[in-house]
Amino acid sequence: MTFTLPPAHAAWLTRAAGPDNLAVQAQYVGLLAEVEDDILGCFRDGGGVGYAAFPRFQALMAEDSGAVHDATLIEVTLPLVTGLVERLRSGIDVADVGCGSGHAVNLMGAAFPASRFVGFDVSDTGLTAATAEAHRQDLTNVRFVHKDAATLDGTERFDLITTFDAVHDQARPDLVLAGIAQSLRPGGVYLCVDVTASSTLADNLDHPLGPFLYTISCMHCMTVSLAAGGMGLGTMWGEQTARRMLAAAGFTEVDTKHVDGDILNTYYIATRSCARQRHLDGQDPRVGASNRRRFGPPVHGSPTDLRQPDEQSQWPPAGARSGGTSPGRESWRSTQSRCCIDGAAVRPTADRQTHGCRRTLPITWIVVGTRKP
Ligand SMILES: C[S@@+](CC[C@H](N)C(=O)[O-])C[C@H]1O[C@@H](n2cnc3c(N)ncnc32)[C@H](O)[C@@H]1O
Repeated sequence: MTFTLPPAHAAWLTRAAGPDNLAVQAQYVGLLAEVEDDILGCFRDGGGVGYAAFPRFQALMAEDSGAVHDATLIEVTLPLVTGLVERLRSGIDVADVGCGSGHAVNLMGAAFPASRFVGFDVSDTGLTAATAEAHRQDLTNVRFVHKDAATLDGTERFDLITTFDAVHDQARPDLVLAGIAQSLRPGGVYLCVDVTASSTLADNLDHPLGPFLYTISCMHCMTVSLAAGGMGLGTMWGEQTARRMLAAAGFTEVDTKHVDGDILNTYYIATRSCARQRHLDGQDPRVGASNRRRFGPPVHGSPTDLRQPDEQSQWPPAGARSGGTSPGRESWRSTQSRCCIDGAAVRPTADRQTHGCRRTLPITWIVVGTRKP
């Protein structure tokens, strides 16, 4: 039997397609299959499967995120923050927390030679790849440091801190966010790029990447956190939880944006007021009683329970457009339509044109099973 693909479909399965290359995503299936038995064991006995069980993870993640960074980071993502490109040109201090293989840091380092960049991670594999790339490019304004993100404490200060899909799989994302808030200089910005979702499962039923992302969550992101005795937030922690945790960490202003070219993520631009900053500078703003009881050594600050449903948080995000019939689902559909649902072929062409979406991703293999009957 012979299988053929029309040339237009085949184009989505090669590296020439950049971030639209679905073959990259398909590699996660093999990666996750390797730990299936371990995950089953965790369902029986508890605990998690640590990063060491995913030896190919850093290389795959680098290929996945690298394609998006190449297509969008300098030209689209950084300009999302008003005035940031000008500040980067004139020279500021930047940290990328959970930098993995460091491609984002190296791209920024090359684009903004007057600024200074550091990437933090605990993966030696990632840090080695990051340093090698920096050397290949003769970058003298970037460095990579082995550092647990949960130990950021404001000793070193930055004007911009970024995380690219590096919060939701942390053991202690609450400490990481609090440390990031403490490590920003006055006027500093935190750009938190993380998976677009609702924190409520029911609101994700129409998520075109939902089955795929919940699978990744169960078999990687959540389990690596649990393996370290962590919170196990998981890939689908969602916007409500993200906003609640950012607020608990001390961020007073959180804006969200999306990038045409990144179907996966929401871009949270978080800052804090001067008054709040003075308060945080005077005391450790870390997490409160419920998390102390559950997760570890005492740290002081405002109480927060990260797992409580938050009926008050804003969903859909500001600017979302209505497209469905039931309240929970219409918010999701409309929000995603900007760059995603049209690609999943669940929106009529006319509607796609209304939203100005140019991309058409043939991701039917992910969508199957998520559409409403
Ligand atoms: C999903 S990957 C994202 C990597 C990179 N930002 C990217 O987009 O390719 C999450 C990263 O967080 C790192 N990480 C996990 N726990 C960490 C911790 N406690 N401190 C620092 N990095 C951590 C992992 O090693 C991994 O490189």
